[in-house]
Amino acid sequence: MAIQIPRGTQDILPGEVEKWQFIENTAKEICRIYQYKEIRTPIFEHTELFQKGVGDTTDIVQKEMYNFEDRGGRSLTLRPEGTASVVRSFTENKMFGHPNQPVKLFYNGPMFRYERPQAGRFRQFVQFGAEVLGSEDPAIDAEVISLAMELYRRVGLKHLKLVINSLGDKESRISHRNALIDYFKPRINEFCSDCQNRLEKNPLRILDCKKDKDHELMKSAPSILDYLSCESKKYFDEVLVYLDELEIDYEVDPTLVRGLDYYNHTAFEIMSNAEGFGAITTLCGGGRYNGLVQDMGGPETPGIGFALSIERLIAALKAENIVLPFEKQVDCYIVALGDQAKHKAMVLLQQLRKSNFSAEKDYLDRKMKAQFKAADRINARFVAILGEDELQKEIVLLKDMESGKQTEIVINDFVEQFKTLCK
Ligand code: HAM
Repeated sequence: MAIQIPRGTQDILPGEVEKWQFIENTAKEICRIYQYKEIRTPIFEHTELFQKGVGDTTDIVQKEMYNFEDRGGRSLTLRPEGTASVVRSFTENKMFGHPNQPVKLFYNGPMFRYERPQAGRFRQFVQFGAEVLGSEDPAIDAEVISLAMELYRRVGLKHLKLVINSLGDKESRISHRNALIDYFKPRINEFCSDCQNRLEKNPLRILDCKKDKDHELMKSAPSILDYLSCESKKYFDEVLVYLDELEIDYEVDPTLVRGLDYYNHTAFEIMSNAEGFGAITTLCGGGRYNGLVQDMGGPETPGIGFALSIERLIAALKAENIVLPFEKQVDCYIVALGDQAKHKAMVLLQQLRKSNFSAEKDYLDRKMKAQFKAADRINARFVAILGEDELQKEIVLLKDMESGKQTEIVINDFVEQFKTLCK
């Protein structure tokens, strides 16, 4: 049997890949406008980076990482997310010392998680993400959220819901943690073994458990918002004021905890509420991680960011029946008949391409009719015909495929004339 693609991965074929290019180019353009610079980090890192960064008690680290040992006996991991790598690179490259602060970065690349594949959940997926390091201004929280929203707006998504919460500072988290332990402890044996382990180690993770999400205790578990310190509350309120000013709608959801350990203060997710969107509705997730740079051995530096997968964005486009406006037309197809014409066609093709026109010709020695069909299939705007007659007269017959109009053009003037006709 022929070898098949691994589970949870996909080939992105021509026809579909144009959507990806459109989305990725749009994202890059928005980053240019918002002044976020691209960073590219390795696809694998030392396993320890994610254990420390994402957190030992998270599902990602415990169950979902692709770990392997290299020939030198080092434990490496295919990156499950981008934040830990960005923070490592920020620290390693001493970006905290750069004159331009805060450091505003974006990335776009494949991530790997050994998850149960289903619609919208892959084992290899592409995350576009942005991270800001070095600012603790609530305005930057709003900027990061508005950047993500802007991408969704530009691709045409309308059915979106921004859900936001505050996980507070250390002080808030300690009192919330104690409240959670007191709350769950008497009935913890009704929960899964993971949650029983989480109780003392990281009770916040219980709120994020996929297995126990319907347990009755989940509904009225202590809310972090009741345990926020004055400072955390003030910070959160200011973020919300900025969102109001930027006219970004949101819903405060005190049960939103996120699946990674590094968060504090602002945490948010953008969901699709389009009818017909599958069970997984989260398109984008992010939040603030003020202690992470320090935990990774760097100086105390606040940080905030988000990541979203292109796969889920495309699924949301489908659910909203949105067709992206990418270019589907080829400028010119050259139909050539006879050996001499084939050679001349190759030269004209080269000239067109050098002038930035998308151009194509036949390479299968097809008859005239079949060449025209091929031109039709690739949606050629013009067809240039070059047969023995034309060669003799030193002309090209150019057919406008929209109007059907034909024009004779002197071969040597072809590209110049083509430029004027295309205007
Ligand atoms: P995350 O919530 O684990 O956060 O992932 C962010 C986004 O990645 C999700 O909202 C979803 O769009 C996409 N995603 C995650 N897993 C999969 C999957 N298996 N298949 C398809 N898409 C997936 C993070 O990764 C954080 N690093 C986000 C962040 C950046 N926080 C601060 N800065």
